[in-house]
Amino acid sequence: MKIIRAKDYNDMSRKAAGIIAAQVILKPDSILGLATGSSPIGIYENLIKGYREGDVDFSACTTFNLDEYRGLTADHDQSYHYFMYKNFFDSVNVPRDRINLPDGSQPDAEKECARYDAAIEAAGGVDLQLLGMGLNGHIGFNEPEDTFPKGTHCVDLTESTIEANKRFFASADDVPRQAYTMGVQTIMRARKIIIIVSGQNKAEIVRKAFFGPVTPQVPASILQLHPDVVAVVDEAALSECGDLLK
Ligand code: GLP
Repeated sequence: MKIIRAKDYNDMSRKAAGIIAAQVILKPDSILGLATGSSPIGIYENLIKGYREGDVDFSACTTFNLDEYRGLTADHDQSYHYFMYKNFFDSVNVPRDRINLPDGSQPDAEKECARYDAAIEAAGGVDLQLLGMGLNGHIGFNEPEDTFPKGTHCVDLTESTIEANKRFFASADDVPRQAYTMGVQTIMRARKIIIIVSGQNKAEIVRKAFFGPVTPQVPASILQLHPDVVAVVDEAALSECGDLLK
C-alpha cells in the first residue's frame, strides 16, 4: 500500500482527484467504482472543475457505486443515488445509462445483489475503485464481522454506523437499518484502489487498518493485501501512525 500524505482535507481531495483524473485521461473508457460519504465530496468538486476546464472527459466512462440504503428510492434526498447526482453526475458527462448503483427500492435483496455483481462482471470489472472509510473501519457498508463478506449483499448496519450517519437524517430513527453493498471480494477485485481518509476522528482506525493485523473486524485492513492501493490520508488522520510511516 502506498500512503500519500496530504496536509488537510482540501489537499487530500485535490491529490485524489488528480489520481482519478489521470486514470480517465489514460483510459477514457475506465470503469470507475465510486463512493459516498462526506470524504469524497471535495474530490467530486475537483473533478467537476477539471471537466469544466476541459481537462477530463467522462463521456466514455462507466461507474458503479459501492452501496445504497435498502428501502430508499432513488429520489429520496438521503439516498446515495440522490447524493451522487447532486454532488457529481449532474455536473459531468458520464452517460446516464452507464451510471450504476444498487437499487435500494428492490425488496428482493438476493436478486438485486446478484444483478449488481453480474453488471460489474459484464462491464469487465472495476479499473479504479474509490473508497472512504467508516469510523469502525468499514468500506462500502462492509461492517466488522467474523469473516470477510464476498459479493454484493444486504447488510444490517451497526449502531456506530447508524450513529455516524444520523447527521444526514432528521433523526437516528430515520436512518435505514440495512443497505446493499459491494462485498469485500467485489472491492478487492478492482484493478486499482484509492482510499481517502481525513480527520482526527479517523486517526485510530487508520493505524489499525493500515498497520494492524488483517482481520474482518477491521474490514479496511484487507486492503493491505491488494497489489495496487493508494491511500491519500491527511495529517490529522495520520497523527497516530507516528514512526510507522518512517
Ligand atoms: C458511509 C459509506 C461509506 C463511507 C463512510 C464514511 O457509511 N457507506 O462508503 O466511506 O460512510 O463516511 P464519511 O466519509 O462521511 O466519514
